[in-house]
Amino acid sequence: MRGIGFVALPLVLLLLCGRGSQASAGFIKSPLSVVRLTGQDAELHCEAIGRPMPEIQWWFEPDYNNESFSQLWDGARMDRVQMNSTYVFHATSTLYLMELGTEDSGTYECRASNDPDRNHLSKSPRIKWIRSQANVIVIDPPNIVTSPTDIEEGSHVVLNCNLTDQIPIAGREWLKGDKVIQKDDDSSPVMSYNISEVNAEKSGQYTCKFLTTPEVSEIINVTVSPHVVAYKKSEHGNEGDTGVLTCKSNSFPPVDNWVWYKEEDGVHTVIANGTDERFIIKSAGNKTELRVLKLDMKLDQGVYGCNGTNTFGGAGATIALRVRSRLAALWPFLGIVAEVLILVTIIFIYEKRRKPDEAPEGSENSSFDEDGGSAPLKSNSGANHDNVRQRNSS
Ligand SMILES: *[C@@H]1O[C@H](CO)[C@@H](O)[C@H](O)[C@H]1NC(C)=O
Ligand SMILES: *[C@@H]1O[C@H](CO)[C@@H](O)[C@H](O)[C@H]1NC(C)=O
Ligand SMILES: *[C@@H]1O[C@H](CO)[C@@H](O)[C@H](O)[C@H]1NC(C)=O
Ligand SMILES: *[C@@H]1O[C@H](CO)[C@@H](O)[C@H](O)[C@H]1NC(C)=O
Ligand SMILES: *[C@@H]1O[C@H](CO)[C@@H](O)[C@H](O)[C@H]1NC(C)=O
Ligand SMILES: *[C@@H]1O[C@H](CO)[C@@H](O)[C@H](O)[C@H]1NC(C)=O
Ligand SMILES: *[C@@H]1O[C@H](CO)[C@@H](O)[C@H](O)[C@H]1NC(C)=O
Ligand SMILES: *[C@@H]1O[C@H](CO)[C@@H](O)[C@H](O)[C@H]1NC(C)=O
Repeated sequence: MRGIGFVALPLVLLLLCGRGSQASAGFIKSPLSVVRLTGQDAELHCEAIGRPMPEIQWWFEPDYNNESFSQLWDGARMDRVQMNSTYVFHATSTLYLMELGTEDSGTYECRASNDPDRNHLSKSPRIKWIRSQANVIVIDPPNIVTSPTDIEEGSHVVLNCNLTDQIPIAGREWLKGDKVIQKDDDSSPVMSYNISEVNAEKSGQYTCKFLTTPEVSEIINVTVSPHVVAYKKSEHGNEGDTGVLTCKSNSFPPVDNWVWYKEEDGVHTVIANGTDERFIIKSAGNKTELRVLKLDMKLDQGVYGCNGTNTFGGAGATIALRVRSRLAALWPFLGIVAEVLILVTIIFIYEKRRKPDEAPEGSENSSFDEDGGSAPLKSNSGANHDNVRQRNSS
C-alpha cells in the first residue's frame, strides 16, 4: 500500500499542477535533525518530485564560525562526506556524514530545483531552488567513570558506572556482550551490577549504557584465566583415517596461545604445526583443533593434551586417542554379513526339507506362485491342478 502511495502522490501533484507537462519541484521527504557524539556517523535523507525531475543538492552552514552556506559534494571533508542519489520515479538523495567532529555541527540544507536555468552562472532562474533544513549537533562524549579496574577470579564484585556530565537520562541498561541483562528507567547517573562470583561463565565484556540523546556507554572487562575443556575426553579413529582432537575455552578474554603435546610416561612432547607433516593445528581464540592424518596404531595411540594461556593464566585438558585396526572397523559389518548368510542357509535347508512331504496336499496358491502362476491359470485351476502338482513333486 505504501509503495502505491509513493507512486500515486507524484502523479496526483503532476495532474494538479497540470498546465502541459511542467511542474515545479516539491519535497516529499525532508531531512531530520540529529544529535551525535564525536566519531559517530549521521545520515540525512531528502526526496523531491516535479517535472522535469528535480536535481537535489546539499549545502552546509557551520555553527561555530561565521561562514555562510557552502555546497557539499561526494568526497568532501577528506571523504568523510558521501552522497547517494537516485533519479527514478522521483529524485532521492542521502547524505552520509562520517566520523563526525564538533566542527561538523551546523545547518544542513537539501535544495531542489528543476528550472532549466537553475545552474546558469549569469541568468537567474525564474523558479528559485526550494530548501529544506536539518540541524546536526555533534557533542563530545560525556565522561563515564567505571570501577573496579582490577577484578580477581572467584571474588564478588560490583561493577559501577558514573556519568559525571549532566545530561538528561531516560533509563539505563547493563549488557553482557550484546545481550541486555538488566534495565530500568531510573534517571540516576550512577549504576551498578553485582557479580556474586567471578568465573569463566560470568567473564565477558559488560557495557553500562545510559539512555541519553544520543546514548552513551562504557565497557568493563571482567577477565579470567582460560577455562579449557576437551570437546570429548576420548576419541576413536580407524587406522589410516584422520583423527580430530578439539579443545575449547569459552572464557574472556580469549586464549592467546594454544599448545598441543603428547604424553608418554609422564613426558610431554610438544606437537607444533608441521613437526610431522601428519599433524595440522588450527587455533582460534576459543577453540583449537589437532588433526592427525593417516592414523597409525603404534605411533598415534595415546594421551594428548592441550594448554591454553592468556595474560591472566593458563589451563589444560587431556584427550585419549584410540586407534582401531582397519579390520576391527569391519567386524560389525562382517558380523551382519555372517548373520545374513547363516539365516539364508537355515531357511534354504528348512525349505528343502519341508517341500517333499508338503507337496502332495500343498496349497494351490503357493504352488501357483512358485510356478509364476498367472490369472488364466487360476480361472481354470481345476484343469491345470494336476499338471502343476506333478511338476512340483518330480
Ligand atoms: C567572523 O566575522 C568577523 C567579523 O565579522 C571576522 O573578523 C572573523 O574573521 C570571522 N571569522 C571567521 C572564522 O570567518
Ligand atoms: C545507494 O542507494 C541505492 C538505492 O537506494 C542502494 O541500493 C545502494 O546500496 C546505496 N549505496 C550506498 C553506498 O549506500
Ligand atoms: C559520581 O561522580 C560525581 C562527580 O565526579 C561524584 O561527585 C560522585 O560522588 C560519584 N558517585 C559515585 C557513586 O561514585
Ligand atoms: C550488591 O551486593 C551488595 C552486597 O552483597 C548489596 O549490598 C547490594 O545491594 C547489591 N546491589 C544490587 C544492585 O543488587
Ligand atoms: C577490554 O577488552 C578488549 C578486548 O580484549 C580490549 O580491546 C579493551 O582494550 C579492553 N578494555 C580495557 C579497559 O581493558
Ligand atoms: C598450521 O598449518 C596449516 C596449514 O599448513 C594452517 O592452515 C594453520 O593455520 C596452521 N596453524 C597454526 C596454529 O599456525
Ligand atoms: C567463541 O565461541 C563462541 C561460541 O561458543 C562463538 O560464537 C564466538 O564467535 C567465538 N569467539 C571467538 C573469538 O572465536
Ligand atoms: C600444560 O599445562 C600443565 C599444567 O596445567 C603443565 O604441567 C604442562 O607442563 C603444560 N605443558 C605444556 C607443553 O605447556
